[in-house]
Amino acid sequence: MRRFEKERLQRRSSLREYFPRPSSTSDAPVKLIFVALYILGAILVWSKQDEIARTAETTALLSPIASLVMQHILAVYLLVGGAFLTILILFPIGKKAAQDQLRSIGLVNHTDMVPALKRKYKDKQNPRISVWEFSSQGIPLKTWEDKQAAIETILDITIVKMKYGSGKSRVLLYTVPARTDLPEVIDWNDKYLSHNPFILALGESFTGPVTVDLVKVPHILLGGSTGSGKSVLLKLLLMQALKKGAIVCIADFKGGVDFPPIWHKQCKMCIEEESTLALLTELVDELQRRKALLAASGQPNIDRYNEATGEDLPRYIFACDEIAEVLDKTGLGNDQKEVVRKIESKLSMIARQGRAFGIHLILATQRPDANILSGQIKNNVNCRICGRADTILSQIILDSTAAAEQIPKDARGRFLLHDGTLFQAYWFDDRGG
Ligand SMILES: Nc1ncnc2c1ncn2[C@@H]1O[C@H](COP(=O)(O)OP(=O)(O)O)[C@@H](O)[C@H]1O
Ligand SMILES: [Mg+2]
Repeated sequence: MRRFEKERLQRRSSLREYFPRPSSTSDAPVKLIFVALYILGAILVWSKQDEIARTAETTALLSPIASLVMQHILAVYLLVGGAFLTILILFPIGKKAAQDQLRSIGLVNHTDMVPALKRKYKDKQNPRISVWEFSSQGIPLKTWEDKQAAIETILDITIVKMKYGSGKSRVLLYTVPARTDLPEVIDWNDKYLSHNPFILALGESFTGPVTVDLVKVPHILLGGSTGSGKSVLLKLLLMQALKKGAIVCIADFKGGVDFPPIWHKQCKMCIEEESTLALLTELVDELQRRKALLAASGQPNIDRYNEATGEDLPRYIFACDEIAEVLDKTGLGNDQKEVVRKIESKLSMIARQGRAFGIHLILATQRPDANILSGQIKNNVNCRICGRADTILSQIILDSTAAAEQIPKDARGRFLLHDGTLFQAYWFDDRGG
């Protein structure tokens, strides 16, 4: 941008400070007011047209054009006013302002063109959401996503979702006004439990409930710094899994503080390496056994197998509240290192093959160390959830810094899903029993 252009942009932006911002939701109400005013104006002109025509006749020294306009005042009003109204209805209010604002945060293509706001409308599925439709000007969605925090600030909106419109020449921003926020606490209620065999409820986003389907995304990686709400969310998922008849195994090397006695009754607990390895070995053996069963029966996965044979092979969930604690090899002797290496290889076997055989991993971590979680495991865990985090942890969990940017420092139970959905996890209290 050249200097004079920059100055012009700054001048326009500071001028706009004096005017109220156009609605961030939808222009429809404002446009309706203009339509109403136009109709009112038409009635007024219609009732006064004879009077105005007479004035034109009786006034001396009137230019012929003015006289003509006054004699046909109704037609002129309808035509000129109608033209203005059409322009107003066709173009979204605040188009120019949005363009200036996006330019000021550098959302431009290589020829310095800035996306143009095409429409603003209410989302049909969720009237709380308004959709801002932009022409993308060749700027890929990834760039929009990287600049999400800046776009939200400059346009004074909260972006709930971004996606391409029909074709890639349009980008749709699903937004709510910046002042709206998710509730700080949403108590868990058994009515949130899904009827679907393996859909687990996570919490609520701006667009409604957020769930994860273990049939589609078999493993979950959960990140977040201390106090972000990982343990609560992990237990929320495990509680639902238990209610759905899964067998839950928990590796907890922190002496069980996170898991009150009720968990020890209902789940298989491992509190050190040897028993964890023994349990994972059992799980991998079960995986192999199921593999043979499915191969023999010709069924593609355990759900179909259960259906076809009338058997009821349960799902297994292996959960860990701090996976770094289990996999960290620093300071260990050779024998222990070997045990950890075996644990790692069993975990990555389950990560790769567990899906069809109903064996799932839910791994939580707060330690941002890429070396601890091997690529084998990480790449096969396709559901990523990150709570409050610094940029490094967010990068490791979500492959972007979004969690660090979008989750406030004091937020608890607030998470970002890998697809960009921000949600408040249900608050689940297991201390009652
Ligand atoms: N979903 C939630 N809604 C509201 N508050 C929560 C939620 N999850 C956690 N918290 C609060 O945050 C605190 C820390 O949660 P915890 O799960 O122990 O965090 P972490 O395991 O990440 O250290 C909890 O004691 C609770 O007060
Ligand atoms: Mg914890």
